[in-house]
Amino acid sequence: MTKERVLSGMRPTGKLHLGNYLGALKNWKEMQETYDCFFFVADWHALTTEYASTSDIRTYIHEMLIDWLAVGIDPEKATIFVQSMVPDHAVLHLLLSMITPLPWLERCPTYKEQQQQLTEKDLSTFGFLGYPVLQAADILIYKAHKVPVGIDQVPHLELTREIGRRFNHLYGEVFPDPQAILAEIPKLPGTDGRKMSKSYDNCIYLSDSEEVIRNKVRNMMTDPQRKRRQDTGDPDVSPVFAYHKIFSSREEVERIAHECRTAGIGCVDCKKILAGNMIRKLSPIHEKRAAVAADKKRIIEIVEQGTASAARAASQTMAQVREAMKISF
Ligand code: TRP
Repeated sequence: MTKERVLSGMRPTGKLHLGNYLGALKNWKEMQETYDCFFFVADWHALTTEYASTSDIRTYIHEMLIDWLAVGIDPEKATIFVQSMVPDHAVLHLLLSMITPLPWLERCPTYKEQQQQLTEKDLSTFGFLGYPVLQAADILIYKAHKVPVGIDQVPHLELTREIGRRFNHLYGEVFPDPQAILAEIPKLPGTDGRKMSKSYDNCIYLSDSEEVIRNKVRNMMTDPQRKRRQDTGDPDVSPVFAYHKIFSSREEVERIAHECRTAGIGCVDCKKILAGNMIRKLSPIHEKRAAVAADKKRIIEIVEQGTASAARAASQTMAQVREAMKISF
């Protein structure tokens, strides 16, 4: 039995935080045990919005690979590579662009939303409009069956399927129909209670040291109604409690909820317990991260090997694509 193929990518826009870990990487790590997984750094996708300031991308790619390896994405089990190192993604992007109607792209909700939100960038470019076509190429070139993504990516997956079907309809069956595997909505808010996001400056990063974690936890938001030590609190509105639910034992969570409601424990102590538990739980990742980061040569070797096998798979599909389109001479 050949394993089903899973493919996913992440744009290198900065170091990874706990939300990325719980929302995506943990899932990837589980999938590598049962599927034929391809995980890649989508650096060309980063260029669609960062084309005017490209100097950080290289560092971000490197940091991202370190984070992946630190959480246990395993090059023995999964194919790890960088998009721009497999130029066939661009070739398929070009060919798919021939058959993709403009209105499909203009209609894509992420296109308009991002243009409105990222006003400091000029996103009225050909490259940005074609973002979903490039993503379709990423997915179809490996004939992926399953694509683990966040809910925000569903329109891109829909477009991928439509483009794939249109190709199959025009030239004959080449691409399987890929299916989105939706990541759970992360139960972990940022340190201020809003969604954890780099742009809100409320993240805890996988690369944060123990000291940084202690500091961030100390400054975390709690129940805003609980102003003095003797006030009772509502754990369910406190981001600190949301973290306890992930990092503390069940007995501890129950005890803290009770003592918060009865003013038995103060926020300072509650946070100290949390910081200790987080540091303990994250220590295997921290240790692995330090070891991975110290061996730059090994990282390059992993990516080169991953790229070579990704390129092999991609070129097989491209041969079929050229044949189907009758453009192989
Ligand atoms: N657009 C995705 C994101 O921002 C990243 C991505 C690029 C991707 N190509 C992909 C995800 C292919 C899954 C499959 O998260």
